[in-house]
Amino acid sequence: TKTYVPYKVKDIALAEWGRKEIQLAEAEMPGLMALRAQYGESKPLQGARIAGCLHMTIQTAVLIETLQVLGADVTWSSCNIFSTQDHAAAAIAAAGTPVYAWKGMNEEEFNWCIEQTLFFGEERQPLNMILDDGGDLTNMVLNQFPELAAGIKGISEETTTGVLRLMDRVKAGTLPMPAFNINDSVTKSKFDNKYGCKESCVDAIRRATDVMMAGKVAVVAGYGDVGKGTAASLRGAGARVIVTEIDPICALQAAMDGFEVKKMADAAKRADIVVTATGNCDIITEQHFRSLKDKAIVCNIGHFDDEIDMAWLNGNYGHTKNTIKPQVDLYTIDGKDVIVLAEGRLVNLGCATGHPSFVMSNSFTNQTLAQLELWQNADKYENKVYTLPKHLDEMVARLHLEKIGVELDELNAKQAGYIGVTPEGPFKSDLYRY
Ligand code: NAI
Repeated sequence: TKTYVPYKVKDIALAEWGRKEIQLAEAEMPGLMALRAQYGESKPLQGARIAGCLHMTIQTAVLIETLQVLGADVTWSSCNIFSTQDHAAAAIAAAGTPVYAWKGMNEEEFNWCIEQTLFFGEERQPLNMILDDGGDLTNMVLNQFPELAAGIKGISEETTTGVLRLMDRVKAGTLPMPAFNINDSVTKSKFDNKYGCKESCVDAIRRATDVMMAGKVAVVAGYGDVGKGTAASLRGAGARVIVTEIDPICALQAAMDGFEVKKMADAAKRADIVVTATGNCDIITEQHFRSLKDKAIVCNIGHFDDEIDMAWLNGNYGHTKNTIKPQVDLYTIDGKDVIVLAEGRLVNLGCATGHPSFVMSNSFTNQTLAQLELWQNADKYENKVYTLPKHLDEMVARLHLEKIGVELDELNAKQAGYIGVTPEGPFKSDLYRY
């Protein structure tokens, strides 16, 4: 960490291509561009040294440059070994941002990359803000560099799995600074997790395999926000979808959305495609692998690679692994082939390019608002996990309406009074579930 590496990417020559795609993405990210217009001159993030660890894609490049327009210094790593888009990383590096990310790194390189983001510039000044996705950066700082914690104002965490880790810390009393839960902004989890996966799940399976979706039996494990989007994605492509769940509410939702809901032990036998979307471990294990049909496709769209028991597969049938192309591997289990995508890591970022810009603009506008709030007002918060207030959630949505031609009706005073709100919002109580 002490020697300064200005950046590390796959190929800096990809920068020009990356820049062109970043420009296209900007037009699809009205929330971020509105924040640039509003705060570009006053630069409220001046002095902030934000270390970010989040899939280094084209959309993330627009987030990074938004934080910079608002005055922040930024360093970046990717939160997954396969999720970097090398042209995005190159464009960001060429513009002078210390970014350490390339597609297909190993785990040791992954940790090295995160570590590079902790200290800024040749002066090696430590980070004072964390922007995380999944908690790997947070864990590195708090477990391996605890002396840095006192100088850090706060954390904004992108995803379900990372928020779980933060809540564990709150329970254990080991969260030394306030954190914002971005995931549970309505304009994040009810959009990115759901409508994002609705587009990116099938995109990933197609790019990886070119398999005909229509008519196939697809099994989706978990019917939370990601599972709902994933099941809709597969149904939209013509697959016959079976859902598995452990929560009676989500199981009932799946059934009433028209899906069969079965136990994984039975569903796996019928599956042509299995997608895990639980954020839990041990969803596809030995018994399921053994019961799959020949040439079944198995992948995961949850954050970590322990939803599918890759350790068992590699331990027992690793010798049969036959790589068709990067992130597409064929294993043979007692005469039957199984196709595993992205080595069990999140498939939409490993085999495709993640979610489209427009939906990520919602997530990243929340991220930017949380960074602003923590940078300016961290002392107002305890060392707990917060969500952004509803008026900001509604603002994020509002910033995305014009682009798609949405016209809102407005409440008059009588109507507002009748339902107990003000004409300007917030329009719902905090208990409302959307
Ligand atoms: P969620 O909590 O809304 O949904 C998870 C669902 O899985 C729950 O309904 C739960 O009851 C169910 N579940 C848990 N254990 C199960 C089991 N053994 N069998 C069947 N179902 C089970 O969480 P969300 O937001 O859907 O996130 C899921 C995962 O996806 C997390 O790891 C999250 O970080 C990740 N994620 C991935 C994205 C991507 O682009 N690939 C985007 C957003 C989140």
